[in-house]
Amino acid sequence: MAAPGAEVGKDPVMSPMPSELQTERLVLRRWRAADREPFAALNADPVVMEHFVAPLARAESDDLVDRIEDHFDQEGWGLWAVEVTETSRFIGFTGLWPATFEAPFTPAVEVGWRLAQEGWGRGYATEAARASLRDGFERFAFDEVVSMTSLTNTRSQRVMQKLGMTRDPADDFDHPNVPDGHRIQRHVLYRLTRP
Ligand SMILES: CC(C)(COP(=O)(O)OP(=O)(O)OC[C@H]1O[C@@H](n2cnc3c(N)ncnc32)[C@H](O)[C@@H]1OP(=O)(O)O)[C@@H](O)C(=O)NCCC(=O)NCCS
Repeated sequence: MAAPGAEVGKDPVMSPMPSELQTERLVLRRWRAADREPFAALNADPVVMEHFVAPLARAESDDLVDRIEDHFDQEGWGLWAVEVTETSRFIGFTGLWPATFEAPFTPAVEVGWRLAQEGWGRGYATEAARASLRDGFERFAFDEVVSMTSLTNTRSQRVMQKLGMTRDPADDFDHPNVPDGHRIQRHVLYRLTRP
């Protein structure tokens, strides 16, 4: 029997650029104009941005959406807009992003997430990350995906651990884009090899 959704000559897994991925509770999709306002709101929330150098202004938030969409257009993978299927609410992003800054492990492909507080504590980040990792390993055959966050961001590190990623403390590093002596300068690195 054919897999659900399969059609002759149209294999969803091999499609060069699916416009969305679906999980049990979430839709991971390309960005829409209506996402910009709630995205700017979460980027301006000091709780969401606690482990970053600073919250983002509206223009910086919009610029990030532009860069994410450009990257999808050029490469076919990126940071998906995450929507809760049941409510159709946009709650943030999860997905893959190139790590190009100067570090012993770069260039690399990174998995990352940033959700509005209303999306925390439900397992959404882990569920969305699993789907985007699978997509990256299957469709783009990345050999390894990494994830990084500040030593202080234990919530994010828990997501990495739940994804089966592993940390070698020897990989810990000072993020070159964080000012010297800043409380979030020291970062941990988690790695996941293609299954
Ligand atoms: C990092 C971040 C995405 C983590 O969110 P999170 O909700 O803690 O992570 P998950 O989506 O994996 O959810 C896990 C929690 O959901 C709970 N949960 C509830 N229902 C669940 C379900 N059906 N399935 C799984 N977990 C569920 C779990 O118990 C767990 O809580 P706990 O860790 O306190 O025990 C979120 O805190 C965030 O967006 N932070 C700001 C941005 C940021 O720091 N990004 C990372 C920068 S590197």
